[in-house]
Amino acid sequence: MHDLLNDPLAEYSSILNLAKSNPHKAIKQLTKQLIKYNEAYHNEDISLISDEEYDQLFRHLLILEEEYPEYKDHDSPTTKVGAKPQTEFVAKEHAIPMLSLNNIFSNMQVTDKSIRHQELIQFDKRITENLASSDLITYVASPKYDGVAISLIYIDGTLTQALTRGDGFIGEDVTENVKTIANIPKQLPQIPGQDIPQLLEVRGEILILTADFILLNQAQEKLGLKHYANPRNTVSGSIRQLDSTVTAKRPLHFFAYAIARIGNGTHNSKTELEINKHLPNSVVLTTFFAQLAYLKNLGFDISDLNQLLTGTDALIAYYEQTLSKRNQLPFGIDGIVYKVNQISAQEKLGFVMRAPRFAIAHKFPAEEVESQLLDIQIQVGRTGALTPVAKIKPVLVGGVMVSNASLHNADEISRKDIRINDFILVRRAGDVIPEVVKSILNKRPQNSQKFIMPTSCPVCGSHLMRLPDETITRCSGGLYCQAQKRQTITHFASKLALNIDGMGEKIVDMLVDNNLINNSADIYSLNLAQLANLPRFGLKSSENLINAINKSKNTSLHKLIYALGIRHVGESTAKALANTFGNLDKLMSASVNELIQINDIGETVAQSIVDFFSEAHNYEIIKQLLALGINYPITLSNSKFNVNISGKTFVLTGTLSKFTRDEAKALIEEYGGKVAASVSKKTDYVVAGIEAGSKLDKANELGITILDEANFKSLINYNKS
Ligand code: IVH
Repeated sequence: MHDLLNDPLAEYSSILNLAKSNPHKAIKQLTKQLIKYNEAYHNEDISLISDEEYDQLFRHLLILEEEYPEYKDHDSPTTKVGAKPQTEFVAKEHAIPMLSLNNIFSNMQVTDKSIRHQELIQFDKRITENLASSDLITYVASPKYDGVAISLIYIDGTLTQALTRGDGFIGEDVTENVKTIANIPKQLPQIPGQDIPQLLEVRGEILILTADFILLNQAQEKLGLKHYANPRNTVSGSIRQLDSTVTAKRPLHFFAYAIARIGNGTHNSKTELEINKHLPNSVVLTTFFAQLAYLKNLGFDISDLNQLLTGTDALIAYYEQTLSKRNQLPFGIDGIVYKVNQISAQEKLGFVMRAPRFAIAHKFPAEEVESQLLDIQIQVGRTGALTPVAKIKPVLVGGVMVSNASLHNADEISRKDIRINDFILVRRAGDVIPEVVKSILNKRPQNSQKFIMPTSCPVCGSHLMRLPDETITRCSGGLYCQAQKRQTITHFASKLALNIDGMGEKIVDMLVDNNLINNSADIYSLNLAQLANLPRFGLKSSENLINAINKSKNTSLHKLIYALGIRHVGESTAKALANTFGNLDKLMSASVNELIQINDIGETVAQSIVDFFSEAHNYEIIKQLLALGINYPITLSNSKFNVNISGKTFVLTGTLSKFTRDEAKALIEEYGGKVAASVSKKTDYVVAGIEAGSKLDKANELGITILDEANFKSLINYNKS
């Protein structure tokens, strides 16, 4: 689980896939993980992941919660301290909840239109039945803006409040920031012959136009700053700025999509649908389309894509047409929203749960864009996972310039037969890291080249390993590999490992950045002068750190084993290994077969341990550590474990001279073996005393190892030594 978060490119996509298929579960999982990281950080001072990775997960949770507020956990880290901007804005209740829409999809692979769009046809059928209509229904089709929802309240024509959607019921007051958005009217104009409404609540979406987003990133680049990941996150961050002059600098754009409330006299209309009850003089809004026209007249931007359509054929044509020009639109959209046009019909249809029955979001499939695969490079992540990354000819996918895309793993490349120089399709679904979908085979160029996975780590040259049941190839040079060094060293120094007080992630970063350490062993060569020369490192804190380093030299075997950061070896496995082997040498030469005898150690863990120690680079660093004075009390004499007997099944037959049956049985069990009553293929040893009977014959028949009393004793004696 932890790993999932440490190698974003390699494994992040699995959680994002989950978000697509089961957003509820994804939200739960993210919430749980973030809480764990917070607790480790606040209570134990342990950073389990980098700040950057934390932010990435956190943002992802925010986005999911915004889309599915109904799944948001009461204890979500996004509503807690740490979610800084959240606590800085005043929370306010929405007079009318900001609901979500139900989603439907089309399968664009299917040629038959009535099957391809069956969910849409069903939606229209439900509406027609509910309204008992004999006519085709008229809808307003609108783009589903891929931005951030906002509610704007105008009192007597003046913009007085802007709330984010929040959980749908309570949003954040971001009025000052929203006032900086150029195309949002701050004051409604006086339209001849019409009163200005005393209350008007407009709903819409704030977004960044694609062209502006590209310019924004070009400007970032010029300043040597990081690129913004995507327009939607940038909007979200921009409207949550504490300093509204920062918001003012961002090219934000607002599109209105509905009126939530409009009224004169009393403003307490409780439902969105009462908008016709107290309208300003000479304002008639019996249709949704008329509402949009009214808003447009007041100076709000309404997209030209809004259209009045009658019957499903028109809806289908609109959907396909809009989808086909999606790449050319000035802003990102992720689907179409259809709403029943007649307000009286909307009222009749009402709501189911948290979504209106009169509207639906018809989502687009993930956008796929053609590009060319220039090269495949191997990235080594912080946990040593090797990820093939596609270097592609830069293309805009869903409003984001993409030049790197994930190929997931070597298996996938060969399964999809993706070759360097191929023309490819690249996909970006929502917030997901872009991926190569497939090669366009009929355009395969002459010079296309098959990709060959390297046989050793491209960063450190250590051998690679691939555990059974895993698709990911990993570098085995955990202690040595430069790609893994920060994580390895931080883990080595952490509380449950060598417990070097004060040596957290930030200090490790600083030491690595200043070339003072390159691996865990280097910690023990640090001196006071080196530390005291570092920025913000006084003499006192340098002394403290050196003392903590020296103190950590006296440790225990299980802490040392845990500190090595062997994949799958957590604290309890480290304890089991320490108890079993008693010293590091024995553990280092243990075989998979020996290791799997230990309770709770399966093949995967055993293989990972063997792989780790069979990498000479790791061995070197362990040798250095021991030479630099790391020591632990040797506990071998206490060890009862016997690798030759542990897990083995014995059958006793005949009479032994030195032991009774019970004594022999107790001895075998004490050393981790089992005693069975009858001989079978699963029997490992038959101990045959005097006058052994049919069990001996059976053992001979099955070719099972037979021990006489002397052999049995020597097995035990031998193992006792
Ligand atoms: S209408 C009662 N129209 O989609 C329904 N929503 O999934 C109110 N959205 O939070 C929503 N474009 O922020 C509507 N043209 C559009 C939209 C739109 C984007 C967002 C909206 C809402 C979410 C619902």
